[in-house]
Amino acid sequence: MWSVVSLPRMHDREGLVVAADAPEAIERAATVLLGGGLVAIPTETVYGLAADIRRPDAVRSVFSAKGRPADHPLIVHVECFDRVRECAQTIPSLAVEAAAAFWPGPLTMLLRRSDLISDLITGGRDTVALRCPANEFTLGLIARMDTGLAAPSANRFGHVSPTRARHVVDDIGTVIDLVVDGGDCRYGIESTIIDLTSSRPQILRAGALTREDLESTLDVRFGESTGPSRAPGMLLSHYAPRATVHLVSSVEEATDCAGRMSGSAHRTRILEHAEHLPMYAATLYQQLRAADDDGIDAVIAVLPPRIGLGAAIADRLEKAAVRPEGERA
Ligand code: TXA
Ligand code: MG
Repeated sequence: MWSVVSLPRMHDREGLVVAADAPEAIERAATVLLGGGLVAIPTETVYGLAADIRRPDAVRSVFSAKGRPADHPLIVHVECFDRVRECAQTIPSLAVEAAAAFWPGPLTMLLRRSDLISDLITGGRDTVALRCPANEFTLGLIARMDTGLAAPSANRFGHVSPTRARHVVDDIGTVIDLVVDGGDCRYGIESTIIDLTSSRPQILRAGALTREDLESTLDVRFGESTGPSRAPGMLLSHYAPRATVHLVSSVEEATDCAGRMSGSAHRTRILEHAEHLPMYAATLYQQLRAADDDGIDAVIAVLPPRIGLGAAIADRLEKAAVRPEGERA
């Protein structure tokens, strides 16, 4: 995580935010979670909204705090492989190899769930998504809790994922108990989700870990996402700012497009870092939020080539470009 300090604003509730490196941070977060409350936690991808998986009341309030439909399952965050053995019924050898290679890190694995994982968490599915985040505070918190933490991204449903504590406070700060500020998220884009329950392993969601890294390290070819595990979260419209998002394939095209739009009194902003994909990913959500804050009407985004990290960035931009139901003209 980079060290960026979130500036307090007038409407922040007293004591809502604690710095991840404050000596009392883990104990404060654990006390809230053990009491059935909700804590926003930093990870290397995006901020998560955590609940104790043993508390059905807390898991329910994750859905209501986000405005998220109950059939959109939650990722369970773990700090060691022993906890995977508690949460999953069967563990394929590929899961062991993938965890050894990429955990802690931005990889989520879908396995058959054990009885410890409730229908509330999985939306009634018989699988569970497990991930071990590369964040010192959050790993320490899970170890202190001695149980997994169910945590979706800490944004309002359908909105852009939060990559800094300030985004969480702005989105859902009034309906959660604590925000742990760990600075800006290193990757800025969600984890890659792989399904290890299908006959051939599949990538369900492109993310911060690239297909190329997965396939070369594990010596496996991943299929495309098909079949029953296709996540309901893979909606057409998601990660959407208020500004409209227009996709183009080059900076020249973006400049032309901005020129045409300025004639119709649209305030536009161009997004591109095609030369540096990690930077494009790390700042993407932040820039989409900043566009809204600055009253921009239209974001013109250059789609990166769909290789490496470009696959996840292009996926998010395409979803951001689709207007949510009801907003279509
Ligand atoms: O990087 C990340 O993965 C972040 C951080 C906080 O860990 N989490 C995140 O969670 O992006 P969320 O809830 O915003 O997205 C998780 C996706 C959803 O689309 C959900 O439908 C899918 O994972 N998912 C979770 N459990 C699943 C399951 N059992 N079967 C199919 N899809 C599942
Ligand atoms: Mg999300």
